[in-house]
Amino acid sequence: MNTDYILEVRDLKKYFPIRKGLFYRTVGYIKAVDGVSFSLVKGKTLGIVGESGSGKSTLAKLLIKILKPDKGEIFLLGKEITHLSENEFRKWRKSVSLVFQDPFSSLDPRFTIEKIILEGMELGRQSKQEKKKRVLELLELVGLTKDSLERFPHEFSGGQRQRIGLARALANAPELIILDEPVSSLDLSIQAQILNLLMDLQEKFKLSYIFIAHDLRVIRHLSDEVCVIYRGKIMEHATAEEIFKNPLHPYTKLLFSSLPLLGKKRPFTFQTPEEKRSEDKLCRFLPRCYLEKRGLCREEEPSLREVLPGHFVSCWQV
Ligand SMILES: Nc1ncnc2c1ncn2[C@@H]1O[C@H](COP(=O)(O)OP(=O)(O)O)[C@@H](O)[C@H]1O
Ligand SMILES: [Mg+2]
Repeated sequence: MNTDYILEVRDLKKYFPIRKGLFYRTVGYIKAVDGVSFSLVKGKTLGIVGESGSGKSTLAKLLIKILKPDKGEIFLLGKEITHLSENEFRKWRKSVSLVFQDPFSSLDPRFTIEKIILEGMELGRQSKQEKKKRVLELLELVGLTKDSLERFPHEFSGGQRQRIGLARALANAPELIILDEPVSSLDLSIQAQILNLLMDLQEKFKLSYIFIAHDLRVIRHLSDEVCVIYRGKIMEHATAEEIFKNPLHPYTKLLFSSLPLLGKKRPFTFQTPEEKRSEDKLCRFLPRCYLEKRGLCREEEPSLREVLPGHFVSCWQV
């Protein structure tokens, strides 16, 4: 275990049963996260990109123990957390927080901004005054004014709400923030503002980020490294510079070529006839792959291989 790592994930898996029929029998599994491994150095950003349904939010939830993995290990600041009880996890809980995609549904509409931010705060033996002071400090950090305190979420724009979400995420002075599509629901000009804010905050507090997006462009400027995931598995992993300069996996290339399509929600297409037939055996990207298929592509799932120094690809043809 390298002590420079804030987070290390080994072979993480989460399958959701698909149940059908009168007796609600399990007829198969959605492999939402299917053997994911990576590590993140303190103060750095790992971008995770993949289209809707690829398992990004499931991964985020596993990382902060909202969900329990079926398999694998998660080391947060060197401590394996998957086996910790809720009580034991409390000590580590403060060091990581999550910002959700949708700033409209993630803030309770009945609460004032002050209450929303306080809610996420570890309440120590502070006076009311001190708490209020801390909330004001947080609001200022994210570029909101003092008069926001007594207002309600619906009085704010999307961008402002995401700022509130950020203030809440910062409340316990975390070291790692998991950003699950933090700007996907915002207009382009607002996106840029929030991305700039994220960069400022990272510098100020030496934060580490897991930055999840379905759009490669969004993570380009923030990420040190990028993982491209497809149906729960990492297809390509390299530095951001390398992956943009020299994308190697056919799926990554497809992401580059079809950027506008990716935002659209589409049902999880995990069982085309070809996939159904083969289940675990063939390369999971095969049904959508435009390369000429080779024997191995149908016989065995490729694993992530280092094809250039620091550049990992999961494809038989690279
Ligand atoms: N609680 C759940 N129960 C069953 N299936 C789920 C659950 N959460 C997610 N899934 C399925 O797992 C897959 C990955 O979902 P998700 O992690 O939300 O992907 P993403 O965030 O990349 O869009 C999808 O097929 C989704 O339908
Ligand atoms: Mg998601």
